[in-house]
Amino acid sequence: MFSVSKLIIDGRKRLSGRIEIQGAKNSALPILASALLTCDTSVINNCPDLSDVEITLNILRYLGCTAQLDGNTVTINSKCADKYDIPDELMRAMRSSIIFLGALVARFGMARLSFPGGCELGPRPIDLHLKALRMMGIEISEQHGSLECSAPNGIHGAKISLSFPSVGATENIMLAAATAQGTTIISNAAREPEICDLADCLNSFGANISGAGEGTIIIDGVEALNGAMHTIIPDRIAAATYMAAAAATGGRVLIDRIVPTHLSGIIPIFEESGCTVKQRGNSILIDAPNRLRAVKLIRTMPYPGFPTDAQPPIMAMLSSAKGTGIFVENIFENRYKHTSGLERMGARIYLEGKVAVVEGVSELYGARVASPDLRGGAALVVAGLGACGVTEINDIHYIDRGYESIELELSKLGASIKRL
Ligand code: EPZ
Repeated sequence: MFSVSKLIIDGRKRLSGRIEIQGAKNSALPILASALLTCDTSVINNCPDLSDVEITLNILRYLGCTAQLDGNTVTINSKCADKYDIPDELMRAMRSSIIFLGALVARFGMARLSFPGGCELGPRPIDLHLKALRMMGIEISEQHGSLECSAPNGIHGAKISLSFPSVGATENIMLAAATAQGTTIISNAAREPEICDLADCLNSFGANISGAGEGTIIIDGVEALNGAMHTIIPDRIAAATYMAAAAATGGRVLIDRIVPTHLSGIIPIFEESGCTVKQRGNSILIDAPNRLRAVKLIRTMPYPGFPTDAQPPIMAMLSSAKGTGIFVENIFENRYKHTSGLERMGARIYLEGKVAVVEGVSELYGARVASPDLRGGAALVVAGLGACGVTEINDIHYIDRGYESIELELSKLGASIKRL
Protein backbone atom coordinates (compact mmCIF):
# COMPACT_ATOMS: atom_id res chain seq x y z
CA MET A 1 0.00 0.00 0.00
CA PHE A 2 1.67 3.24 -1.09
CA SER A 3 1.50 6.12 1.37
CA VAL A 4 0.08 9.43 0.19
CA SER A 5 3.29 11.47 0.07
CA LYS A 6 5.69 10.74 -2.74
CA LEU A 7 8.74 12.19 -4.44
CA ILE A 8 8.79 12.83 -8.18
CA ILE A 9 12.27 13.00 -9.73
CA ASP A 10 13.10 13.93 -13.31
CA GLY A 11 16.53 12.39 -13.64
CA ARG A 12 19.86 13.02 -15.37
CA LYS A 13 20.32 16.54 -14.03
CA ARG A 14 24.00 16.99 -13.17
CA LEU A 15 24.25 18.06 -9.48
CA SER A 16 26.54 20.95 -8.61
CA GLY A 17 27.00 23.45 -5.81
CA ARG A 18 27.38 23.20 -2.04
CA ILE A 19 25.43 21.36 0.63
CA GLU A 20 25.65 21.74 4.40
CA ILE A 21 25.26 18.38 6.13
CA GLN A 22 22.68 17.94 8.91
CA GLY A 23 23.45 16.76 12.43
CA ALA A 24 23.80 12.99 12.85
CA LYS A 25 20.52 11.14 13.47
CA ASN A 26 22.33 8.23 15.11
CA SER A 27 24.04 10.61 17.52
CA ALA A 28 20.93 12.61 18.30
CA LEU A 29 18.80 9.66 19.47
CA PRO A 30 21.06 8.40 22.31
CA ILE A 31 22.08 11.96 23.23
CA LEU A 32 18.45 13.02 23.62
CA ALA A 33 17.84 9.93 25.80
CA SER A 34 20.84 10.93 27.97
CA ALA A 35 18.95 14.08 29.06
CA LEU A 36 17.03 11.76 31.42
CA LEU A 37 20.21 11.35 33.47
CA THR A 38 20.19 14.94 34.74
CA CYS A 39 17.48 17.00 36.44
CA ASP A 40 18.91 20.16 34.93
CA THR A 41 18.35 21.72 31.55
CA SER A 42 20.25 20.27 28.58
CA VAL A 43 20.70 22.20 25.34
CA ILE A 44 21.54 20.17 22.24
CA ASN A 45 22.67 22.05 19.12
CA ASN A 46 22.81 20.87 15.49
CA CYS A 47 20.01 18.39 16.12
CA PRO A 48 18.49 17.31 12.81
CA ASP A 49 14.77 17.95 12.35
CA LEU A 50 13.64 14.38 11.55
CA SER A 51 10.62 12.21 12.35
CA ASP A 52 12.83 9.89 14.45
CA VAL A 53 13.91 12.93 16.50
CA GLU A 54 10.27 14.02 16.87
CA ILE A 55 9.34 10.54 18.16
CA THR A 56 12.23 10.66 20.63
CA LEU A 57 11.10 14.07 21.89
CA ASN A 58 7.54 12.75 22.23
CA ILE A 59 8.85 9.88 24.36
CA LEU A 60 10.70 12.37 26.58
CA ARG A 61 7.52 14.47 26.89
CA TYR A 62 5.48 11.35 27.72
CA LEU A 63 7.99 10.58 30.49
CA GLY A 64 7.35 14.04 31.97
CA CYS A 65 10.21 16.06 30.50
CA THR A 66 9.85 19.37 28.72
CA ALA A 67 11.45 19.15 25.28
CA GLN A 68 11.42 21.89 22.69
CA LEU A 69 13.00 21.86 19.21
CA ASP A 70 13.63 25.36 17.81
CA GLY A 71 15.24 25.08 14.40
CA ASN A 72 18.08 22.69 15.18
CA THR A 73 18.40 23.40 18.91
CA VAL A 74 16.67 21.18 21.45
CA THR A 75 16.13 22.32 25.03
CA ILE A 76 15.19 19.57 27.49
CA ASN A 77 14.46 19.68 31.19
CA SER A 78 13.95 16.33 32.89
CA LYS A 79 13.38 17.61 36.45
CA CYS A 80 9.71 16.63 36.38
CA ALA A 81 10.18 13.30 34.62
CA ASP A 82 8.07 10.81 36.58
CA LYS A 83 7.33 7.85 34.30
CA TYR A 84 9.58 4.92 33.57
CA ASP A 85 7.55 3.09 30.96
CA ILE A 86 7.36 3.62 27.21
CA PRO A 87 3.98 2.61 25.81
CA ASP A 88 3.57 0.23 22.93
CA GLU A 89 2.65 2.75 20.28
CA LEU A 90 5.71 4.87 20.99
CA MET A 91 8.01 1.82 21.06
CA ARG A 92 6.52 0.61 17.80
CA ALA A 93 6.97 4.02 16.18
CA MET A 94 10.73 3.68 16.44
CA ARG A 95 12.56 0.47 17.30
CA SER A 96 15.71 2.31 18.34
CA SER A 97 13.80 3.58 21.40
CA ILE A 98 15.45 0.58 23.11
CA ILE A 99 18.17 3.19 23.70
CA PHE A 100 16.00 4.56 26.54
CA LEU A 101 16.41 1.35 28.55
CA GLY A 102 19.74 2.13 30.21
CA ALA A 103 18.86 5.77 30.88
CA LEU A 104 15.44 4.94 32.40
CA VAL A 105 16.83 2.36 34.83
CA ALA A 106 19.68 4.74 35.74
CA ARG A 107 17.19 7.52 36.49
CA PHE A 108 14.30 5.65 38.09
CA GLY A 109 15.70 2.24 39.04
CA MET A 110 12.90 0.83 36.88
CA ALA A 111 11.90 0.62 33.22
CA ARG A 112 9.14 -0.99 31.25
CA LEU A 113 9.36 -1.13 27.47
CA SER A 114 7.49 -3.29 25.04
CA PHE A 115 9.84 -5.61 23.23
CA PRO A 116 11.06 -3.62 20.21
CA GLY A 117 9.74 -5.57 17.25
CA GLY A 118 11.92 -6.41 14.32
CA CYS A 119 12.09 -3.85 11.60
CA GLU A 120 12.63 -3.73 7.87
CA LEU A 121 16.24 -4.87 8.34
CA GLY A 122 15.50 -8.14 10.08
CA PRO A 123 14.80 -9.32 13.67
CA ARG A 124 17.10 -6.71 15.33
CA PRO A 125 17.78 -8.78 18.50
CA ILE A 126 18.76 -7.05 21.74
CA ASP A 127 20.43 -10.01 23.47
CA LEU A 128 23.74 -8.11 23.81
CA HIS A 129 21.96 -5.18 25.47
CA LEU A 130 20.15 -7.43 27.98
CA LYS A 131 23.19 -9.61 28.81
CA ALA A 132 25.32 -6.55 29.55
CA LEU A 133 22.71 -4.70 31.61
CA ARG A 134 22.04 -7.84 33.67
CA MET A 135 25.78 -7.94 34.47
CA MET A 136 25.36 -4.44 35.91
CA GLY A 137 22.75 -5.60 38.41
CA ILE A 138 19.67 -4.80 36.37
CA GLU A 139 16.99 -7.47 36.63
CA ILE A 140 15.16 -7.88 33.35
CA SER A 141 12.20 -10.14 32.79
CA GLU A 142 10.64 -10.59 29.38
CA GLN A 143 6.96 -11.33 29.60
CA HIS A 144 3.95 -10.83 27.35
CA GLY A 145 6.11 -8.95 24.86
CA SER A 146 7.38 -6.41 27.33
CA LEU A 147 10.62 -5.91 29.23
CA GLU A 148 10.24 -5.32 32.99
CA CYS A 149 13.51 -3.93 34.32
CA SER A 150 14.53 -3.00 37.84
CA ALA A 151 17.73 -2.38 39.80
CA PRO A 152 16.75 -3.14 43.42
CA ASN A 153 20.30 -2.58 44.64
CA GLY A 154 21.17 0.13 42.17
CA ILE A 155 23.33 -0.28 39.08
CA HIS A 156 26.95 -1.32 39.62
CA GLY A 157 29.92 -1.31 37.28
CA ALA A 158 30.96 -4.49 35.45
CA LYS A 159 33.60 -5.82 33.07
CA ILE A 160 31.66 -6.39 29.85
CA SER A 161 33.00 -7.98 26.69
CA LEU A 162 30.70 -7.65 23.68
CA SER A 163 30.72 -10.62 21.30
CA PHE A 164 29.86 -8.11 18.54
CA PRO A 165 30.67 -4.37 18.66
CA SER A 166 26.98 -3.45 18.77
CA VAL A 167 26.37 0.32 18.54
CA GLY A 168 23.11 0.24 20.48
CA ALA A 169 24.38 -2.10 23.16
CA THR A 170 27.50 0.05 23.67
CA GLU A 171 25.28 3.13 24.03
CA ASN A 172 22.86 1.47 26.44
CA ILE A 173 25.76 0.34 28.64
CA MET A 174 27.30 3.84 28.63
CA LEU A 175 23.98 5.41 29.63
CA ALA A 176 23.48 2.89 32.47
CA ALA A 177 27.11 3.11 33.64
CA ALA A 178 27.54 6.90 33.74
CA THR A 179 25.99 7.19 37.24
CA ALA A 180 26.46 3.55 38.36
CA GLN A 181 28.37 2.59 41.50
CA GLY A 182 31.90 1.76 40.43
CA THR A 183 33.65 1.31 37.12
CA THR A 184 32.38 -0.32 33.92
CA ILE A 185 34.77 -1.54 31.25
CA ILE A 186 33.41 -2.36 27.81
CA SER A 187 35.69 -4.53 25.66
CA ASN A 188 35.05 -4.88 21.92
CA ALA A 189 32.91 -1.73 22.14
CA ALA A 190 31.53 -0.10 18.99
CA ARG A 191 33.91 2.57 17.66
CA GLU A 192 31.46 4.62 15.57
CA PRO A 193 31.82 8.44 15.74
CA GLU A 194 28.35 8.52 17.30
CA ILE A 195 29.76 6.59 20.28
CA CYS A 196 32.44 9.28 20.73
CA ASP A 197 29.78 11.97 20.41
CA LEU A 198 27.68 10.37 23.17
CA ALA A 199 30.77 10.05 25.41
CA ASP A 200 31.67 13.71 24.80
CA CYS A 201 28.11 14.76 25.62
CA LEU A 202 27.97 12.67 28.82
CA ASN A 203 31.38 14.00 29.89
CA SER A 204 30.10 17.55 29.39
CA PHE A 205 27.28 16.58 31.78
CA GLY A 206 29.98 15.57 34.30
CA ALA A 207 30.42 11.88 33.49
CA ASN A 208 33.84 10.24 33.52
CA ILE A 209 34.22 8.25 30.29
CA SER A 210 37.46 7.45 28.49
CA GLY A 211 38.46 5.33 25.51
CA ALA A 212 35.41 6.02 23.31
CA GLY A 213 36.31 5.36 19.68
CA GLU A 214 38.83 2.73 20.67
CA GLY A 215 38.02 -0.92 21.42
CA THR A 216 37.80 -0.51 25.20
CA ILE A 217 35.69 2.13 26.95
CA ILE A 218 36.10 2.85 30.67
CA ILE A 219 33.24 4.51 32.56
CA ASP A 220 33.82 5.60 36.16
CA GLY A 221 30.36 6.08 37.64
CA VAL A 222 29.74 9.51 39.18
CA GLU A 223 27.17 10.62 41.77
CA ALA A 224 25.04 12.72 39.47
CA LEU A 225 25.14 14.54 36.15
CA ASN A 226 24.25 18.17 35.58
CA GLY A 227 22.85 19.90 32.54
CA ALA A 228 25.10 21.23 29.80
CA MET A 229 25.20 22.25 26.18
CA HIS A 230 26.36 19.91 23.39
CA THR A 231 26.64 20.18 19.62
CA ILE A 232 25.91 17.02 17.66
CA ILE A 233 28.45 15.85 15.05
CA PRO A 234 27.55 15.95 11.36
CA ASP A 235 25.77 12.97 9.81
CA ARG A 236 28.37 10.90 7.93
CA ILE A 237 25.67 8.72 6.34
CA ALA A 238 23.75 11.71 5.03
CA ALA A 239 27.08 12.98 3.65
CA ALA A 240 27.73 9.63 1.93
CA THR A 241 24.21 9.72 0.50
CA TYR A 242 24.64 13.19 -1.05
CA MET A 243 28.06 12.16 -2.37
CA ALA A 244 26.38 9.17 -4.03
CA ALA A 245 23.77 11.53 -5.52
CA ALA A 246 26.53 13.72 -6.96
CA ALA A 247 28.37 10.65 -8.30
CA ALA A 248 25.20 9.20 -9.87
CA THR A 249 24.71 12.38 -11.92
CA GLY A 250 28.32 13.04 -12.98
CA GLY A 251 28.16 16.03 -10.68
CA ARG A 252 30.60 18.24 -8.79
CA VAL A 253 29.46 19.03 -5.23
CA LEU A 254 31.04 20.54 -2.13
CA ILE A 255 29.88 18.56 0.92
CA ASP A 256 30.26 21.07 3.74
CA ARG A 257 30.26 21.00 7.57
CA ILE A 258 31.39 17.41 7.93
CA VAL A 259 34.28 15.57 9.60
CA PRO A 260 36.11 13.98 6.64
CA THR A 261 37.81 11.36 8.84
CA HIS A 262 34.33 10.00 9.65
CA LEU A 263 34.12 8.99 6.00
CA SER A 264 37.50 7.23 5.88
CA GLY A 265 35.81 3.90 5.10
CA ILE A 266 33.72 5.40 2.32
CA ILE A 267 35.97 7.82 0.38
CA PRO A 268 38.17 5.06 -1.15
CA ILE A 269 35.03 3.52 -2.69
CA PHE A 270 34.18 6.79 -4.46
CA GLU A 271 37.78 7.11 -5.68
CA GLU A 272 37.79 3.50 -6.99
CA SER A 273 34.56 4.29 -8.87
CA GLY A 274 36.38 7.08 -10.73
CA CYS A 275 35.42 10.14 -8.66
CA THR A 276 37.96 12.73 -7.54
CA VAL A 277 37.57 13.43 -3.83
CA LYS A 278 39.41 16.38 -2.28
CA GLN A 279 39.30 16.90 1.51
CA ARG A 280 39.55 20.49 2.71
CA GLY A 281 39.14 21.19 6.46
CA ASN A 282 35.54 20.34 7.29
CA SER A 283 34.43 19.78 3.73
CA ILE A 284 34.86 17.35 0.86
CA LEU A 285 34.75 18.25 -2.84
CA ILE A 286 33.55 15.34 -4.98
CA ASP A 287 33.91 15.50 -8.76
CA ALA A 288 32.38 12.60 -10.70
CA PRO A 289 33.02 11.33 -14.24
CA ASN A 290 30.15 10.98 -16.71
CA ARG A 291 30.09 7.25 -16.05
CA LEU A 292 31.39 5.48 -12.94
CA ARG A 293 33.51 2.35 -12.91
CA ALA A 294 32.30 -0.69 -10.97
CA VAL A 295 33.95 -1.23 -7.57
CA LYS A 296 35.19 -4.83 -7.36
CA LEU A 297 34.26 -5.62 -3.75
CA ILE A 298 32.42 -3.69 -1.02
CA ARG A 299 32.07 -5.40 2.39
CA THR A 300 30.12 -3.69 5.17
CA MET A 301 31.95 -3.73 8.49
CA PRO A 302 31.75 -2.08 11.90
CA TYR A 303 33.46 1.34 12.03
CA PRO A 304 36.02 2.26 10.75
CA GLY A 305 35.11 -0.13 7.94
CA PHE A 306 32.61 0.62 5.17
CA PRO A 307 29.30 1.36 6.97
CA THR A 308 26.21 -0.76 6.30
CA ASP A 309 24.03 2.40 6.17
CA ALA A 310 25.92 3.61 3.08
CA GLN A 311 25.51 0.28 1.22
CA PRO A 312 22.07 0.99 -0.33
CA PRO A 313 22.80 4.49 -1.77
CA ILE A 314 26.20 3.38 -3.06
CA MET A 315 24.71 0.26 -4.65
CA ALA A 316 22.25 2.59 -6.39
CA MET A 317 24.97 4.80 -7.83
CA LEU A 318 26.97 1.75 -9.00
CA SER A 319 23.96 0.11 -10.69
CA SER A 320 24.82 2.03 -13.88
CA ALA A 321 28.62 1.81 -13.53
CA LYS A 322 30.83 0.18 -16.16
CA GLY A 323 31.53 -3.38 -15.04
CA THR A 324 30.37 -5.76 -12.34
CA GLY A 325 30.85 -5.32 -8.59
CA ILE A 326 30.20 -7.44 -5.50
CA PHE A 327 28.65 -6.31 -2.20
CA VAL A 328 28.84 -8.36 1.00
CA GLU A 329 26.42 -7.16 3.70
CA ASN A 330 27.94 -8.43 6.95
CA ILE A 331 25.96 -6.37 9.46
CA PHE A 332 22.24 -6.84 8.81
CA GLU A 333 20.68 -9.96 7.42
CA ASN A 334 17.97 -8.31 5.37
CA ARG A 335 19.40 -5.18 3.91
CA TYR A 336 18.92 -5.73 0.18
CA LYS A 337 15.23 -4.81 -0.01
CA HIS A 338 16.06 -1.82 -2.21
CA THR A 339 17.23 -4.15 -5.01
CA SER A 340 13.66 -4.83 -6.18
CA GLY A 341 13.08 -1.10 -6.74
CA LEU A 342 16.45 -0.75 -8.45
CA GLU A 343 15.59 -3.71 -10.73
CA ARG A 344 12.31 -2.02 -11.69
CA MET A 345 14.53 0.83 -12.87
CA GLY A 346 16.60 -1.54 -15.00
CA ALA A 347 19.38 -2.54 -12.62
CA ARG A 348 20.81 -6.05 -12.87
CA ILE A 349 21.46 -7.40 -9.35
CA TYR A 350 21.88 -11.03 -8.27
CA LEU A 351 21.36 -11.83 -4.58
CA GLU A 352 22.79 -14.83 -2.74
CA GLY A 353 22.48 -14.49 1.05
CA LYS A 354 24.87 -11.76 2.20
CA VAL A 355 26.21 -11.31 -1.33
CA ALA A 356 24.83 -9.03 -4.03
CA VAL A 357 26.39 -9.05 -7.51
CA VAL A 358 25.69 -5.79 -9.35
CA GLU A 359 26.19 -5.94 -13.11
CA GLY A 360 26.39 -2.32 -14.24
CA VAL A 361 23.91 -1.35 -16.97
CA SER A 362 24.43 1.57 -19.33
CA GLU A 363 21.68 3.56 -17.65
CA LEU A 364 18.67 3.22 -15.36
CA TYR A 365 15.25 4.46 -16.41
CA GLY A 366 12.58 6.13 -14.28
CA ALA A 367 9.83 3.96 -12.73
CA ARG A 368 7.22 3.92 -9.97
CA VAL A 369 8.85 2.47 -6.83
CA ALA A 370 8.35 2.42 -3.04
CA SER A 371 10.85 2.90 -0.21
CA PRO A 372 11.37 -0.40 1.64
CA ASP A 373 13.21 1.25 4.58
CA LEU A 374 15.20 4.38 5.43
CA ARG A 375 18.45 3.84 3.49
CA GLY A 376 16.69 1.79 0.82
CA GLY A 377 14.52 4.82 0.16
CA ALA A 378 17.64 6.98 -0.09
CA ALA A 379 19.01 4.47 -2.59
CA LEU A 380 15.92 4.90 -4.79
CA VAL A 381 16.37 8.69 -4.67
CA VAL A 382 20.00 8.33 -5.79
CA ALA A 383 18.93 5.97 -8.57
CA GLY A 384 16.13 8.31 -9.68
CA LEU A 385 18.51 11.26 -9.88
CA GLY A 386 20.76 9.37 -12.28
CA ALA A 387 18.00 7.63 -14.24
CA CYS A 388 16.66 8.65 -17.62
CA GLY A 389 13.05 9.84 -17.26
CA VAL A 390 10.73 10.31 -14.28
CA THR A 391 10.83 8.25 -11.06
CA GLU A 392 8.00 8.25 -8.52
CA ILE A 393 9.02 7.16 -5.02
CA ASN A 394 6.26 6.21 -2.57
CA ASP A 395 6.38 5.52 1.18
CA ILE A 396 8.81 8.38 1.66
CA HIS A 397 8.01 8.54 5.38
CA TYR A 398 10.91 6.08 5.70
CA ILE A 399 13.23 8.65 4.10
CA ASP A 400 11.97 11.45 6.36
CA ARG A 401 13.12 9.41 9.37
CA GLY A 402 16.75 10.14 8.51
CA TYR A 403 17.04 12.97 5.98
CA GLU A 404 16.12 16.58 6.73
CA SER A 405 14.04 17.96 3.79
CA ILE A 406 15.85 15.83 1.23
CA GLU A 407 14.04 17.33 -1.76
CA LEU A 408 14.94 20.92 -0.77
CA GLU A 409 18.60 20.00 -0.31
CA LEU A 410 18.75 18.22 -3.66
CA SER A 411 16.86 21.00 -5.47
CA LYS A 412 19.51 23.45 -4.25
CA LEU A 413 22.05 21.29 -6.08
CA GLY A 414 20.07 21.45 -9.33
CA ALA A 415 17.98 18.28 -9.07
CA SER A 416 14.46 18.26 -10.48
CA ILE A 417 12.67 16.74 -7.48
CA LYS A 418 9.41 17.59 -5.78
CA ARG A 419 7.29 16.22 -2.96
CA LEU A 420 3.58 15.63 -3.73
C1 EPZ B 1 22.78 1.39 14.84
O1 EPZ B 1 21.81 0.35 14.92
C2 EPZ B 1 22.21 2.41 13.88
N1 EPZ B 1 20.95 2.93 14.41
C3 EPZ B 1 21.96 1.76 12.52
O2 EPZ B 1 21.52 2.78 11.63
C4 EPZ B 1 23.29 1.22 11.99
O3 EPZ B 1 23.05 0.54 10.78
C5 EPZ B 1 23.87 0.24 13.02
O4 EPZ B 1 24.02 0.90 14.30
C6 EPZ B 1 25.24 -0.27 12.60
O5 EPZ B 1 26.11 0.80 12.43
C7 EPZ B 1 21.00 3.89 15.38
O6 EPZ B 1 22.06 4.29 15.83
C8 EPZ B 1 19.68 4.41 15.85
P1 EPZ B 1 24.00 -2.76 16.11
P2 EPZ B 1 21.95 -0.80 16.04
O7 EPZ B 1 23.51 -3.01 17.48
O8 EPZ B 1 22.45 -0.20 17.31
C9 EPZ B 1 23.12 -7.42 15.76
C10 EPZ B 1 20.12 3.77 10.03
O9 EPZ B 1 19.85 3.48 8.86
N2 EPZ B 1 22.80 -7.32 17.18
O10 EPZ B 1 25.42 -2.35 15.88
O11 EPZ B 1 20.70 -1.57 16.07
C11 EPZ B 1 22.05 -6.73 14.91
O12 EPZ B 1 20.99 -7.62 14.66
C12 EPZ B 1 20.19 2.68 11.08
O13 EPZ B 1 20.38 4.93 10.45
C13 EPZ B 1 22.57 -8.51 17.90
O14 EPZ B 1 22.66 -9.59 17.36
O15 EPZ B 1 23.10 -1.68 15.38
C14 EPZ B 1 22.78 -6.37 13.66
O16 EPZ B 1 22.83 -7.50 12.81
C15 EPZ B 1 19.87 1.31 10.49
N3 EPZ B 1 22.24 -8.42 19.22
C16 EPZ B 1 24.19 -6.06 14.16
O17 EPZ B 1 24.31 -6.65 15.47
C17 EPZ B 1 22.14 -7.22 19.87
O18 EPZ B 1 21.86 -7.21 21.08
C18 EPZ B 1 24.46 -4.56 14.26
O19 EPZ B 1 23.61 -4.06 15.23
C19 EPZ B 1 22.37 -6.04 19.13
C20 EPZ B 1 22.70 -6.12 17.79
